[in-house]
Amino acid sequence: MSKKAGHPISKKFSAYPRLNPLAVGRDISAADLVDQCMLAYNGGRLREAARLLALKMLPDDGYIGMSLTGALTPAGLGKSCLIPLMKAGFVDWIVSTGANLYHDLHYGLDMRLYQGSPFLDDVKLHDEGVIRIYDVLFDYNVLLDTDAFVREVIQSPEFQRPMGTDEFHYLLGRYVHARQIKLGIKDSSVLATAYQCGIPIFTSSPGDSSIGMNVAAMAMRDSKLMFDVNRDVNQTAGIVYAAKSSGHTSSVWILGGGSPKNFILQTEPQIQEVMGIKEKGHDYFLQVTDARPDTGGLSGATPAEAVSWGKVDPDKLPDSVVCYTDSTIALPLLSAYVLNRVKPRKQKRLYDRRDPILGEVRDRYLQTGTVGKIMTSRKVAKRASSVGLKGK
Ligand SMILES: NC(=O)c1ccc[n+]([C@@H]2O[C@H](COP(=O)([O-])OP(=O)(O)OC[C@H]3O[C@@H](n4cnc5c(N)ncnc54)[C@H](O)[C@@H]3O)[C@@H](O)[C@H]2O)c1
Repeated sequence: MSKKAGHPISKKFSAYPRLNPLAVGRDISAADLVDQCMLAYNGGRLREAARLLALKMLPDDGYIGMSLTGALTPAGLGKSCLIPLMKAGFVDWIVSTGANLYHDLHYGLDMRLYQGSPFLDDVKLHDEGVIRIYDVLFDYNVLLDTDAFVREVIQSPEFQRPMGTDEFHYLLGRYVHARQIKLGIKDSSVLATAYQCGIPIFTSSPGDSSIGMNVAAMAMRDSKLMFDVNRDVNQTAGIVYAAKSSGHTSSVWILGGGSPKNFILQTEPQIQEVMGIKEKGHDYFLQVTDARPDTGGLSGATPAEAVSWGKVDPDKLPDSVVCYTDSTIALPLLSAYVLNRVKPRKQKRLYDRRDPILGEVRDRYLQTGTVGKIMTSRKVAKRASSVGLKGK
């Protein structure tokens, strides 16, 4: 036992800092609050997440892919948090639900959303033409006007062909940005900011949102716009390959779960299991979620489970953080923390390099991959029965 300030320190606790919070002062910053007062349970995980971002994910120009689920943009988190993070160079590519991008358009077009209550009479709201997302309220015309904007924009000649969702969102973002200039507003839309910063935004289920619904309706009017989901799968794998093959780390920052969580993580199995390229998995994993792991659903699957699939590098597992809380609490705190503690980074502008990024991974795949069973470098148990060869 050693002694410090008169108190014995047992060796068995030598690896653990003393739990010794500071009192909250009236001028405490959000970053200091996280560091000094959030020391245990999910507060402790949030602090670990903040430090993982600041000390491991963001340094040395590491690639940060972010996935967005849950109703984040309707709650204003696009404008308050995502746009400052994107402008600071802290988000390099995004996989989002269509809903988050659709509701982002309301802010881009300067429409009004209101802070309501979850305890309102929904039948009355329906009669009055009011839409409710938990405690966020807006007029039904917001939907109709946003839909009309999408339909009018996608009539333009540049949309009359199949394209990846990153290209679709880039072109849509350009129109939103132009509308912002007309309206005299700025920094109100994730799509417009992504266009300005060259940040590719993908959506894993392009038909599953009001944007997809309007694209589908226009197909009945002879619109030629189609989503090239194969390009999306290969392009996202290409981004991760670009990171790893250039000696950078690849991190995933997962808000919620759902299909975007898988889409951002499956990039690694696409590289290893399907393309047969030697790789170890994403370096850093940070998830904020309310989903539990014991139901077997992917939303609640832990980083340890992701290791078994090759999605996360087993050597980096101790650096993974899952914080069980609401993203609407975690995201403002994490944003404030990194914007305070980390210097802005140069934009990677991955969108501008989309063709070379895809070209590099394709070239490598054509050297390594096969149509028959891939011979991976991974140690796979010899189980002939699993491919139906037992006894042959
Ligand atoms: N008008 C529209 O376009 C519209 C509106 C709503 C939903 N949708 C579509 O429905 C699908 C599902 O959307 P969703 O995002 O609501 O997904 P979801 O409800 O399936 O949630 C995905 C995961 O995120 C977690 N999650 C959700 N909110 C969270 C929060 N605040 N904090 C922490 N974790 C949270 C959930 O528990 C779940 O595990 C998407 O494809 C979306 O585009 C479309």
